[in-house]
Amino acid sequence: MPRSSKAPVVFITRRIPSEGIELLEEQGYTVKMYGKDQAITRSELLKQVKGVDALLPLLTDKIDEEVIQAAGPSLKIIANYAVGFDNIDLEAAKKYNLPVTNAPAPEVSESVAEHTITLMLALAHRIVESDTFARSGKYTGWSPSLLVGTDLRNKTLGIIGLGRIGYAVARRAVLGLGMRCLYNTPRRDSAFEKEVGGTFTSLDHLLQESDVISVHVPLLPSTRHLLSTDAFSLMKQTAFLVNTARGPIVDEKALLRALKTKRIAGAALDVFECEPAIDCDLKDRLSLAAFPNVILTPHTASGTIEARQAMGRLAAQNIIAVLSGRAPLTPAK
Ligand code: GLV
Ligand code: GLV
Repeated sequence: MPRSSKAPVVFITRRIPSEGIELLEEQGYTVKMYGKDQAITRSELLKQVKGVDALLPLLTDKIDEEVIQAAGPSLKIIANYAVGFDNIDLEAAKKYNLPVTNAPAPEVSESVAEHTITLMLALAHRIVESDTFARSGKYTGWSPSLLVGTDLRNKTLGIIGLGRIGYAVARRAVLGLGMRCLYNTPRRDSAFEKEVGGTFTSLDHLLQESDVISVHVPLLPSTRHLLSTDAFSLMKQTAFLVNTARGPIVDEKALLRALKTKRIAGAALDVFECEPAIDCDLKDRLSLAAFPNVILTPHTASGTIEARQAMGRLAAQNIIAVLSGRAPLTPAK
């Protein structure tokens, strides 16, 4: 850190759990936080970022060249409070030699994996439908055919993207639930195959053979609408789709069509193409929420106290490293 009489200022765009903030304060930094517990508006962001040394934004904040310029030359790091970083213009940051970090803490992978497995089980065992049914007073007697689901044991899970989260999901599914696993990712992973057991395969083969398909790739130009009409046409009619990655990876229109025509058996979504809207448009009067075989969670897959504290700690540690003249711990790449 260049010596100056002024303590570095860290701007956090919205209150996060305490541990990360405490780490920054222990360094003697001045922590500035957007006061309202809501997403910061663009104009407020541009105003408040001026002259800060470090910016800790959320995944809902678009950080582009305009924000970087508004901050000015004092800015030394952008430390995203998320695993994903599609909200940040990496090219712009590079132009200003600004390190960008994400927060792939191990706790986050485990939390998202638990949420993903929960969604898979909830789809297969029709948990949400059953709960709605029971609480609406419709349960009048046991029946052999009431809300019959399917087991996951001996079924095939297709993991698209074997990063930390995909790995953690596959490990639980194979070792915990007795599923088989196919995976598609840029490089074959023999350590994964040895520890968990899974078969590296093409995306098309995975789509054709899987009973549950779970997406764990980052949102990039190459993964936008990765799952569209062609992909749905390859899937089994009994297949479930789970998306806890980023909404635009799944073409929502194509998904709605696949659900309407019963091309697939159901879907569980934690993220949405036009988030925070559940549906991009209702022109065709088709809403994801209208399907009983669709489960919706509001981008809460990493929403456990363990994961949220860990993300805050890691974001703070990245800031401390860079402001102390060291390399960031988890550069976004
Ligand atoms: C949540 O979506 C994250 O990227 O951390
Ligand atoms: C179900 O409740 C059973 O006893 O089989």
